[in-house]
Amino acid sequence: MIERIKELQKAVESFSPKNIEEIEEFRLKFLSKKGLIPALFNEFRDVAAEEKKLVGVEINKLKQFTTDKLNELKSLLVVTENNTVDIDLSRPGDPIKLGSRHPLSVARNEIITIFTRLGFVVGDGPEIEDDDHNFGKLNFPADHPARDMQDTFFISSDLNVLLRTHTSSVQAHEMSEMKPPIRSLAPGRVYRNEAISARAHCLFHQIEGLYVDKNVSFADLKQTLDYFAKEMFGEHTQIRMRPSYFPFTEPSAEVDVSCTLCNGKGCNVCKGTGWLEILGCGMVDPNVFIAAGIDPEIYSGFAFGMGIERITMLKYGIKDLRLFFENDLRFLEQFTAAY
Ligand code: PHE
Repeated sequence: MIERIKELQKAVESFSPKNIEEIEEFRLKFLSKKGLIPALFNEFRDVAAEEKKLVGVEINKLKQFTTDKLNELKSLLVVTENNTVDIDLSRPGDPIKLGSRHPLSVARNEIITIFTRLGFVVGDGPEIEDDDHNFGKLNFPADHPARDMQDTFFISSDLNVLLRTHTSSVQAHEMSEMKPPIRSLAPGRVYRNEAISARAHCLFHQIEGLYVDKNVSFADLKQTLDYFAKEMFGEHTQIRMRPSYFPFTEPSAEVDVSCTLCNGKGCNVCKGTGWLEILGCGMVDPNVFIAAGIDPEIYSGFAFGMGIERITMLKYGIKDLRLFFENDLRFLEQFTAAY
């Protein structure tokens, strides 16, 4: 009898099931009413009286051992099955790292938002231009020194194809292709053959504005830019217009805003003047209208063009233009915006 108990003990010890069904088979074989262990208890009745004590202890040990093993195997298998099947939905999710917009995009979008409130519509034109749209139609006569105002990157050897030097080229397209009234904004890249420094780059961004209709006056231009300056730099911002020259506008002006840092008192950003230049503008020159097939006797208009880098530097107090092009995350991560 003792021998049989030891054999069963070994069988139980070496049992290692692969799944829950094998555990159930194990239970039926050893512990169910007709199983091997209850059968031992039946035989126990016939054991000689002097052996009863020893055999009884051994059978009970076997039964306890088998029951414990069964319970342990069951719980282990349930745990592993749970781990592979279940996902813990109460755990926090993996954070998704959001990028931020480039400061030039933030400023551009804000400028666009302000002018679209006045009814301006965003358009665009090619960065690779012909001489006619960048210069000719904009009243830059051939061989006129005005062409020297902008150092141009030419693409073709006959100097006809070039990288646009200003977004005013979009004006030339729009006036030839659209009928007034025109109220357009053209943001985009422009290129000039200039040495790269803290204040200049060979690639930068401008936004062009153009308004053509009957009875558009210089007062409309001034009011539009005053509204823009106050929306962009704060309600106490003032503008001033200084006479200037552009071949495609007459009269022309350069516009300054009161210094955003010292409010006009004079500081080192505005070099003590209290003013910061932000854009060029003027009334569309009649020659530009004629080149585009618009009658200057019927229509008038204004145009303005501003550098986005410059506006962004003034708005955020950035001192070096090269930072915009270096993609240094420590710089870029500082800009988050709703725009
Ligand atoms: N195109 C001019 C420049 O790049 C700016 C300008 C635009 C001036 C429209 C007048 C009218 O400096």
